[in-house]
Amino acid sequence: MTFARRAGRIAVAAGSLTALLAVAACGGGGDESAGGGGDTAPSADSSYTEKGPITYVQGKDTSGHVPKQIAKWNKEHPDEKVTLQELPDNADQQRAQMLQNAQIKSDKMTVLSVDVVWTAEFAANQVIDELPADQFSTDDFLPATVQTATYFDKLYAVPATSDGGLLYYRKDLLDKYDLKPPTTWSELKDACDTITKGEDKSKLNCFAGQYNKYEGLTVNFSEAVNSAGGVVVGEDGKPNVNTPEAQSGLDVLVNWFKDGTIPKGAITWQEEQGRQAFQDGKLVFLRNWPYVYSLAEKDDGSSKVNGKFAVAPLPGLDQPGVSSLGGHNMAISKYAKNKGTAVEFIKWWTNQENQKSYSLATSQAPTRTALYTDPELTKEYPYMPILLKSIETAQPRPKAVKYGDVTLAIQDSAYAALQGQIPTQQALSELQTKLESLIK
Ligand code: GLC
Repeated sequence: MTFARRAGRIAVAAGSLTALLAVAACGGGGDESAGGGGDTAPSADSSYTEKGPITYVQGKDTSGHVPKQIAKWNKEHPDEKVTLQELPDNADQQRAQMLQNAQIKSDKMTVLSVDVVWTAEFAANQVIDELPADQFSTDDFLPATVQTATYFDKLYAVPATSDGGLLYYRKDLLDKYDLKPPTTWSELKDACDTITKGEDKSKLNCFAGQYNKYEGLTVNFSEAVNSAGGVVVGEDGKPNVNTPEAQSGLDVLVNWFKDGTIPKGAITWQEEQGRQAFQDGKLVFLRNWPYVYSLAEKDDGSSKVNGKFAVAPLPGLDQPGVSSLGGHNMAISKYAKNKGTAVEFIKWWTNQENQKSYSLATSQAPTRTALYTDPELTKEYPYMPILLKSIETAQPRPKAVKYGDVTLAIQDSAYAALQGQIPTQQALSELQTKLESLIK
C-alpha cells in the first residue's frame, strides 16, 4: 500500500509549537491538502540498528494487561528489555508530557503511544521519527487507521489500536420496557423518559459522554456536529463549523444538560468517570470507547451491570450518528536510544497474534482488518461488526500541525456553550473564526 492521503481532508498550518516546544528545527509543516507546498516533512533516520533496553510510554493502562504483554516480550528478549511508563489517562496531559520530553531532548522515552490526532504535530516538530517504511507493511491494516499514522504520505507510526464511539445501553431496562436500542437522539430521549418513569429517578440518569474540558470534549462535540450532518472541517480542508447543522448538533447536548437528560455532574467527566457511573448502574446510556466493554462485563463484583448491557451504534439527529475516529499508534521518539529495538518491538506488538491477545484481554479495537472476523474475537465481543462500522464511518479530527491550539479552541467554545455561558450560535461563530486562523 502507498500511504496516500485522503484527498482534501487534511488541513495543516505551518509553524511550530512556540509555547510548548522549541525543537522545531525541521522547517516541517505546511498544508498537505494544498499540494503545492512541497514535501517538507523530515526524512527517515536510517540508524535503526542500535539494540538495547527501551521504554514504552502510554496513557494509563486500565486493563492491567499491558505489563503482561511486555513481560512476554522481555522473556523473549532479555537484552532488549522494555520498561512501561504510564502517563495520566487524560489525553492532553499525555501529549504535554511527550512534548516536554522532546523539548528537553531527553532519551527517557523510546516508543510512544501516540493518539491518532497528534501525528501531524509530532511529525512536523520532530517529536517522532519517520519510520523506515520498508520494514513495515500496512497492507493488512484498516486504511483509516493507516491514514492517521501518516504525514505527507510518509509513515510516522504503526496503528496499534483503533477506537470508535459506541452507545452502551442497559439491555435489561430496555427489554423491561419493551424498547429497542435508539438510533436517533429523540428515540434515546423517549426511551429515557419511559424508563425513568418506572424506575427510581434519583438513582438513574439517562445519558452521558465526555464533557470535561479536554480532548474527549473535542471528540464528543465533533460527534454531535457530524451526527447532525455538519462538519468541523470540511472535505476541502477548510473549517466550516458555523452552520445550522452544526448548531442543531451542539444544541442537543446543551439542551440535554439543561433538562437533566445528561446529569449536571458530567461536565467534569472523562471516559473513566462515565464508565464508573455506568458500571455502578447509574446510567441507562453511555457514549464511550470499546475498552469499557471488558471492564463492565467483569463478574468479580467491580461491575453491577455485567450481563445486563449491550452495545449499539451511536445515535444521531435523524439517523445513526457518526463517531470521531480515535485510537493510538506506536511511534519512535526522536531523541531515543536503541531505535533498532524500538522498531522490532513495534513490529512485535502490532503483529496479528499479539494484537489478537491484546484485543481479547482489553476489548480494544484492533487495527488489523482480519481480526474483525476472527471467530474467537467475535465470540467474545459480539459487537465487533458494530465497532468496525463505527470505525469505518468515523470522521477524523482535523489533521493539523497546530493541533494543540485547534483542540483547545474547540474545547473552549464547546465548554462555554455546554455551561450555558454563551449561545450555541455565538460559540460556533467564534470557533469558526479561531479555526480559520489556525488551519490554513
Ligand atoms: C481515546 C481515543 C483517542 C481520543 C481520546 C479522547 O483514547 O482513542 O483518540 O483522543 O480517547 O479522550
